[in-house]
Amino acid sequence: MARPLQGFGLGLRPGYYEDALTPQCPVDWFEIVNENYMVAGGRPLYMLDQVAERYPLAMHGVSLSIGGRDPLDRDYLRELAALARRVRPDVISDHLCWTGGDGLQLHDLLPLPQTEEVVRHVAARVRAVQDTLGQQILLENVSSYLRFSGDTLDEAQFLSAIAAESGCGLLLDVNNVWVNGHNHDFDPYAMLDALPVDAVGQIHLAGHSVDAMGSGLLIDTHDQPVCDEVWDLYAHAVHRFGDVPAMIERDDNYPPFAELLAELAHARDIAATASAQREAA
Ligand SMILES: [Fe+2]
Repeated sequence: MARPLQGFGLGLRPGYYEDALTPQCPVDWFEIVNENYMVAGGRPLYMLDQVAERYPLAMHGVSLSIGGRDPLDRDYLRELAALARRVRPDVISDHLCWTGGDGLQLHDLLPLPQTEEVVRHVAARVRAVQDTLGQQILLENVSSYLRFSGDTLDEAQFLSAIAAESGCGLLLDVNNVWVNGHNHDFDPYAMLDALPVDAVGQIHLAGHSVDAMGSGLLIDTHDQPVCDEVWDLYAHAVHRFGDVPAMIERDDNYPPFAELLAELAHARDIAATASAQREAA
């Protein structure tokens, strides 16, 4: 049965399993971190099965390493496909990054050189992954703290070229656009305006922190509420991309579930206003 992803979601984290399963939970869908459920059994998988019965799901990975130079990990892809068969997600996504090499998994979302050569490399691997899974994937723009001197494309050109050449969609993390705009001195609004409207299939909203070491960089920590600047940028994203399913990502300093619901309600309000203005225009 097709279950289109629509509306507003939250990241499913172990501390929120019981909240997700309460009858009045006002969340339209949940996103899971794939690697937490690519196991043979245990409580997380048991809870996930119950959540999957009640909600549409998005599957979001952190270790595909789509930009890496090691061959794609076929065992990982088999496990990913098995999880997808189990929970029947509406969306499968990972990050536009590399996470290791020479067999070493660094568990970090590392930025790629933004060049045509890397576009071709990533696009070929995306097509192989999509063939294995039998469905389109979305790739997320990542936060970064450096750029490569050999870059020939800006970030919007890089994302657009990969979507066009591979057939993948984009998971637009609005917070990451804001963080990178600050860290790399570009206009985040102009970046959104340069992305292809039809390619954006999902939106992430999250909080960030200022680097405690005094570098002046913004760090993508997911341990704070979404800030006002990111809410404003989200309104602009709705103007440009329309009613794309959006969610709050929280991965540390977990608040009570009610606080996340309040953030989600704020996202709904902003989207409704921006959407009405978009229609009027
Ligand atoms: Fe994200």
